[in-house]
Amino acid sequence: MRGIVYTGSGVEVTDELDVGLPGPTEVRVAMAAAGVCHSDLSVINGTIPWKAPSVLGHEGAGVVEAVGSEVRSVRPGDHVVLATLASCGTCRACSTGHPTWCVRTLGNVSQPFTYRGEPASNFAATSVFAESTIVKEVQAVKIADDVPFTSACLIGCGVLTGVGAVLNRARVRPGETAAVFGVGGVGLNVVQGLRLAGASRIVAVDTQPAKEELARRFGATDFVDASSTDPVAAVRAVVPHDPSRPSGGLGWTGGVTWSFDCVGHPSVLRTALDVLDWGGTALAIGIPPQGTEVAVDVNALAYVDRGLLGCRYGSARPHHDIPLMVDLYQSGQLLLDELVSETRPLEGFRDIVAGMEAGQLARGVLTF
Ligand SMILES: NC(=O)c1ccc[n+]([C@@H]2O[C@H](COP(=O)([O-])OP(=O)(O)OC[C@H]3O[C@@H](n4cnc5c(N)ncnc54)[C@H](O)[C@@H]3O)[C@@H](O)[C@H]2O)c1
Ligand SMILES: [Zn+2]
Ligand SMILES: [Zn+2]
Repeated sequence: MRGIVYTGSGVEVTDELDVGLPGPTEVRVAMAAAGVCHSDLSVINGTIPWKAPSVLGHEGAGVVEAVGSEVRSVRPGDHVVLATLASCGTCRACSTGHPTWCVRTLGNVSQPFTYRGEPASNFAATSVFAESTIVKEVQAVKIADDVPFTSACLIGCGVLTGVGAVLNRARVRPGETAAVFGVGGVGLNVVQGLRLAGASRIVAVDTQPAKEELARRFGATDFVDASSTDPVAAVRAVVPHDPSRPSGGLGWTGGVTWSFDCVGHPSVLRTALDVLDWGGTALAIGIPPQGTEVAVDVNALAYVDRGLLGCRYGSARPHHDIPLMVDLYQSGQLLLDELVSETRPLEGFRDIVAGMEAGQLARGVLTF
């Protein structure tokens, strides 16, 4: 079958892949559509170290084609969105509704594939850049048959990650203010999550001025072109300090309540901290190389109740949040079709990567 394989030195679009039958608690899914997330690129460029050979892709939707003997929640023919969390369901984290904290969801690489006859690993427990893949039952979440696969697939990472960061991790309240750094597939979903939460100012920041139109369509009230403007001054100009509130001479006043680094660069995360008002919190969503550190004056946190939070996969509970995203889409509140900038067959993968690297896409989607 066809698929996209990370070889250790690059990437191959191949028809020399194979996948076996699902085990008792597994599901085999015929992929229909798969979004290309920056994390796939980060494997190829070495930012995220991964085993090779392995099948890339972790944002997908398709049709169940076979289920293991113990699977009860889906059956062949069901349309599903795949979640990357192969959570165990029984640990303390899972039992308290935090599957993103389940230790079974990190580093649980398996080898459901063969590539040129040799075992090949999965990526992010999903590997959706293949005509068929195998996941745990808990990862296959049934959706309505009438949601287009090219839109549904994006829920599997970009939408859950972005909207979830706002609703689950930050729990933004109506009237609060926010800045979003990097309005690609993840950042645009942070923007629309903020719109859903009722944020009063949503400042999108990107180094590609062409992103302004997209950002505003998803709910941004303001846009800062970080290639030509100092983003700290620009965000503070949008949400300035109220002169009637004394600042105690400490400075660091004005700015937003929430900021989201959807780029994954330490200078961006530092800027995300610098645009915060007193009491504000920055969320680290972008993934830089391992060992990356950010420097910050601890006083600028400790004196003024500022915070820094990590956020994995939108702190999502997939069996709650994926149906919620579908409901919000079907009621017209969540934009999914508008995230699909282009669709291409697997052979068009490199064109999508080029478009992403040029900052031109909301999402590029592969179809099978
Ligand atoms: N924490 C998680 O669970 C999680 C989940 C998915 C993706 N990610 C990470 O999130 C990041 C974004 O992923 P994506 O798929 O949205 O990427 P993307 O390529 O679609 O978008 C990145 C955007 O950032 C912009 N950008 C680049 N440098 C910038 C800068 N210095 N200042 C402002 N904007 C800048 C680009 O122009 C682009 O619009 C990646 O690091 C990815 O690995 C994390
Ligand atoms: Zn992703
Ligand atoms: Zn668990």
